[in-house]
Amino acid sequence: MASVHGQSSKRLIITIDGPSGAGKTSASKLLAQKLGYRYIDTGALYRAVAVAAHAEGIAADDEKGLDALCRRISIDLQSSQAGLRVILNGRDITAEIRAPHISMLASAVSAKPVVRTFLLSLQRSLANQKGVVAEGRDMGTVVFPHAEAKFFLDADPHLRAQRRYEELKVQGKDAPNLESIEKDMIQRDRNDSTRSVAPLEPAADAVRIDSTTLSLEQVVECMLNHVARI
Ligand code: DC
Repeated sequence: MASVHGQSSKRLIITIDGPSGAGKTSASKLLAQKLGYRYIDTGALYRAVAVAAHAEGIAADDEKGLDALCRRISIDLQSSQAGLRVILNGRDITAEIRAPHISMLASAVSAKPVVRTFLLSLQRSLANQKGVVAEGRDMGTVVFPHAEAKFFLDADPHLRAQRRYEELKVQGKDAPNLESIEKDMIQRDRNDSTRSVAPLEPAADAVRIDSTTLSLEQVVECMLNHVARI
């Protein structure tokens, strides 16, 4: 197989799933950058639905309300020099989607089949050209079951909470304390792993990586090595 800088010249769909704080976003962005691929953050799409639901006062258990909401909103992911921008009904909501109450609401609405069905086609359409790194919870199991490379990234829960805490601090956000971040994270992991539709779980053919003792560069190196063998 022809290869450029040790990488396969084929354009692939690469999926990265795992719980929050495992390092998926940093690894996905760096991997996409090294391969010249498009990066798709599917969590941002669930967060956009949560922002819309919150703005309209629609509760996470109001399936009819969520169904109607999904039919009238438009969500897009746009690449910019500053990174990926999340656009809801033409408005840039990138700055809003990481607030802790939106994280929790995103996890709650993501358990609803109407929301998952709405986002399934959107996610596939965003990957209509190959050469994609897609990050989420069900990329390798449901959205792209035929992806050529699948990774499941995990790390020790305490470390994941610590990382999220540092991230929020660097972003200058009013960071909640570490304890409440860890509590929220465990709650979200439980919601995401136990829901009946598309729960968070590794695809049978996913390569599992535990990033607890690995640097970002080591994680991406491991992924690149795997991709180069495809
Ligand atoms: O990756 P994230 O923390 O930005 O995701 C926010 C929530 O969205 C997460 O708690 C679960 C949900 N999600 C999902 O159910 N499926 C995906 N593919 C991505 C995210």
